[in-house]
Amino acid sequence: MQQADLEKLYSQGVRLSPQASDLFLSYEGGVDIASEIAKLEKFVVEKEDLEKIFSQDKVPAPFSAEVVRSSDFKPLAKEIEPKLKFYPERDITGKSRCVGSVDNFIGYFRDRLERFRYSFKLRNSKLTVINLSNLKEWEGKEARIVAMVKEKGTTKNGNLKIVLEDEWGTLNAIFTPRTPKALEKAKGLLLDEVVAVEGKVAGEFLWGNDIVWLDMPVSREQKRSERDVAILYLSDLHFGSRFFLEHNFAHMINWLKGNEDRRDLAGKIKYMIISGDIVDGVGVYPNQEKELVIQDIFKQYEAFDKFMEQVPDYIEIIVTPGNHDAVRRSDPQPALSKDFIKSNVRLLGSPTWLEIEGLKHLLYHGTSLDSLIAAIPGMSYNAPEHPMIETLKRRHLSPIYGEGGNTIVPEERDYMIIDDEPDVLHMGHVHKNAVAMYRGTVVINSGTFQARTDYQVRIGHIPTPCIATTYEPHIGKISHVDFSNPAK
Ligand SMILES: [Fe+2]
Repeated sequence: MQQADLEKLYSQGVRLSPQASDLFLSYEGGVDIASEIAKLEKFVVEKEDLEKIFSQDKVPAPFSAEVVRSSDFKPLAKEIEPKLKFYPERDITGKSRCVGSVDNFIGYFRDRLERFRYSFKLRNSKLTVINLSNLKEWEGKEARIVAMVKEKGTTKNGNLKIVLEDEWGTLNAIFTPRTPKALEKAKGLLLDEVVAVEGKVAGEFLWGNDIVWLDMPVSREQKRSERDVAILYLSDLHFGSRFFLEHNFAHMINWLKGNEDRRDLAGKIKYMIISGDIVDGVGVYPNQEKELVIQDIFKQYEAFDKFMEQVPDYIEIIVTPGNHDAVRRSDPQPALSKDFIKSNVRLLGSPTWLEIEGLKHLLYHGTSLDSLIAAIPGMSYNAPEHPMIETLKRRHLSPIYGEGGNTIVPEERDYMIIDDEPDVLHMGHVHKNAVAMYRGTVVINSGTFQARTDYQVRIGHIPTPCIATTYEPHIGKISHVDFSNPAK
């Protein structure tokens, strides 16, 4: 600074101590000293005051906020390889041998009985598991019988009669009000399911004391993944239907690309699972053609493919069929053919098992939910998590076989048995979002992208369209991302 600068300050009424004057004259920085001194409102400016003012020279320029554009979207999921494991032996794809013969039916039910009996024998029980061939040896004794529920009825005396059947014979298990807990359990039995019935053998009867379902172990904990990624669960898109909500689906795809809010979550999505009813299909129910905007089933899948091609390529897409898709209607359903879906997705059957990030997933469209909701008191389409939990408890995705049940093809192996403990059970079919936790299994129903149909209006069902479910297994968090407002 020059002497002239100092005199200018004095002329503005500023007074500096002698030490401050010396410091002022030695200053070579760029701070506007006059205005800074004015802010001090001091009669005499000291050397220390000036030192403070000059120190501003060392303060770096203030931070500017980073302007983020969608082109800057750096998804975490892009940086990592997928971690998937498949279980083809648990998937019907390519293995159907059924011709519908009597032998097929016998073989199917034998497989169901044998596998349940094997699992029950692994469980601790004070009673011996016996079969229906050597009942005389057990006359007057307590035993445990693993058998299928053939019939339910009442005796002359008004007691509950359960007709049990295994490979060797049948037996009437009787439940009376003297054992109220067992009676209540017996009322909840479903036809064709396999359970363990305990009681005392008396001639051609068994006086029932208890019923045991295989169920899931009580002490299971929710499984966590090592990596912090997210899985997106969808189902029941119904491409081709005039009720398919295309704009909302486009909104969701746009979100995956990082163009919407919740980009943190979008960027974590490494897997996308679509559990059936990809298209509305053709000829699924009478007069369906009036409800279709795309009449050709190949074109319905083409429309789906167009959207899948827009999904970021680092996301693994897994597609399983439903009752509207172009495979056989009965369970278990084989994977859709590449003749229909040509985009880069993995096609598996329904049900199917796979491991994602170390979490065992059981994927099933959920066609049997109709029969379970009809047969079990207290079940409703508004809360699909309850019948889903019933499948875990009964260790079978579709226990009721015959009339009033879900059609099952009697294959050599019963693919509907839940003979493992899934970390995630995912279904769709009922167009209603639901989540629940049952003994360490995360239960997800993924809703739909189809608006309320005329049929649903008639039966009073209110769906929850356009809500995508995500699960972050590292932190154990489930989110519902709402796309019910079409894209901006
Ligand atoms: Fe369905």
